Amino acid sequence: MLSPATDPVLAEVAETARELRRARRVARAHSQDMLAHDAAEALRQRLDALLADPETREVVDSALTERASVLRTAVLTRKHELSQRELRKEIDAFAHRAGSARRTLLATERARQAELRTKAAHATDEHVSWLDTQIKDATTRDAVLEAVSSLRLREARSQLERGLLLTRQMRDIIAESLPALMRGEPMLLLGETGGAKTALAEYLSRRLGRQPEFVSGYGDISSTQLIGSHELRPVDGATASVFVPGPLLRAMTTGGPLILDEVNAMPAEFLKRLNRVLQLRPGDSFSVQENAGEQVTVAQGFVILATANEQTPHRYRGIDRMSAELVNRFGANSYRVHYPDHTREYTDTPVENALLAAASIADKEGNIPLSADELERVSRAAFISQQVFSGAHGEGFSEFVSTEREIDGRPGLEESVLAPRTLVAILQKVAGSGGLISLDLALNRFVEGVMHAEDRQVLALILRSQGFLAGPHKGGSRRTYAPSGR
Ligand SMILES: Nc1ncnc2c1ncn2[C@@H]1O[C@H](COP(=O)(O)OP(=O)(O)OP(=O)(O)O)[C@@H](O)[C@H]1O
Ligand SMILES: [Mg+2]
Repeated sequence: MLSPATDPVLAEVAETARELRRARRVARAHSQDMLAHDAAEALRQRLDALLADPETREVVDSALTERASVLRTAVLTRKHELSQRELRKEIDAFAHRAGSARRTLLATERARQAELRTKAAHATDEHVSWLDTQIKDATTRDAVLEAVSSLRLREARSQLERGLLLTRQMRDIIAESLPALMRGEPMLLLGETGGAKTALAEYLSRRLGRQPEFVSGYGDISSTQLIGSHELRPVDGATASVFVPGPLLRAMTTGGPLILDEVNAMPAEFLKRLNRVLQLRPGDSFSVQENAGEQVTVAQGFVILATANEQTPHRYRGIDRMSAELVNRFGANSYRVHYPDHTREYTDTPVENALLAAASIADKEGNIPLSADELERVSRAAFISQQVFSGAHGEGFSEFVSTEREIDGRPGLEESVLAPRTLVAILQKVAGSGGLISLDLALNRFVEGVMHAEDRQVLALILRSQGFLAGPHKGGSRRTYAPSGR
């Protein structure tokens, strides 16, 4: 099969056509940008000239036919993947429905599940045989794989635009938790910083069909702010004390989700009250102390989604505020949100970090303004730092954990990590700089900004292991890395 990677003529046509599309887009967006208009015109002429040569035309036509066939194979492969996902969802839906109604599966439901499983297996067999007939050589296989990746990337990009990349872990938590949330049972999302706990809570609220009330645990928030308080308001020309409900009471009475973000950092006096609130279900009544014991009925749709950071004494402020009885109130609806790729070994490719990285900076067509190599290295650096931060001391990772710290049982990174959120922010900074900020420079800035001296050294070590920070920098060097605990 012909490909731009192996055929220089095709490569030039492809590159010219791509640049022409980009120049036209810029020219359309900025009608005054004469440079873009002129570039588009010059590129169009160049493309016409290239295609005027009959030999080139023939190569391009033949490549286009092959390309169309590759795309068709890729689209059908992606369709197959998605229909498999739908079938799995359908199978799971029986369990969810039964779970919501607190009953076991009917025999007919079990039979339908088995039927759907057979259907899924059959469709996969058929698709694999069909692929065998379509893919005749390694180049076509690579081209199909690349086209499938590009389709996946576009899907990932649109998920991320809506706030959450639906990785396997996320899809599993969503599928498992939704039935309980619909019954009004509270949920707790536990995990390390920047792993998308808040993003997941917001996503789930949207799936419940309501805009959530949102309370952040930081700051000096008090019970009265959360539940409600009396305020002086002008009423009929006079000033009167009026009870104004806070977010908790609003969610409770209007029947919406309430996100208690960083619940571990909320004041102890509120957490004590929360013990009781977590037991409330739609239809129950709640006595509002702040409003002379007024009784309100908990509306259908009220549900609490709480997030909390891991219980690491050095790392996060206030975690000890969450008592065991409070955590118990979440029952089986408490989930640990791990960093992406957490089940992967050091030598594995961190595909989820890489997809997140690519999706965060891809344009609508799936183009990425960084080289595949840079993207791969930065995703790996992020993956290693996440694993080391969350305490992975296995082969490969232990290189970045000092002996002293290992004995201590403490991770090699204490406060700082290239969490998914940080990775996305750094890449978007680079992609949004129009070439002014290189990835290496952005990573250098990140390392320089780390307050904890030892963490700074470990992060520099990790980044350097992936070929970054090669130039002069201030992140500490490998030779001087001599961790000594705290
Ligand atoms: N599936 C995913 N896995 C990991 N990160 C993701 C995923 N989907 C989106 N993100 C990224 O996660 C970031 C949002 O993280 P979020 O603020 O929700 O983390 P958090 O766990 O609440 O952190 P913190 O404990 O510091 O509050 C976004 O930058 C988004 O790009
Ligand atoms: Mg958060």
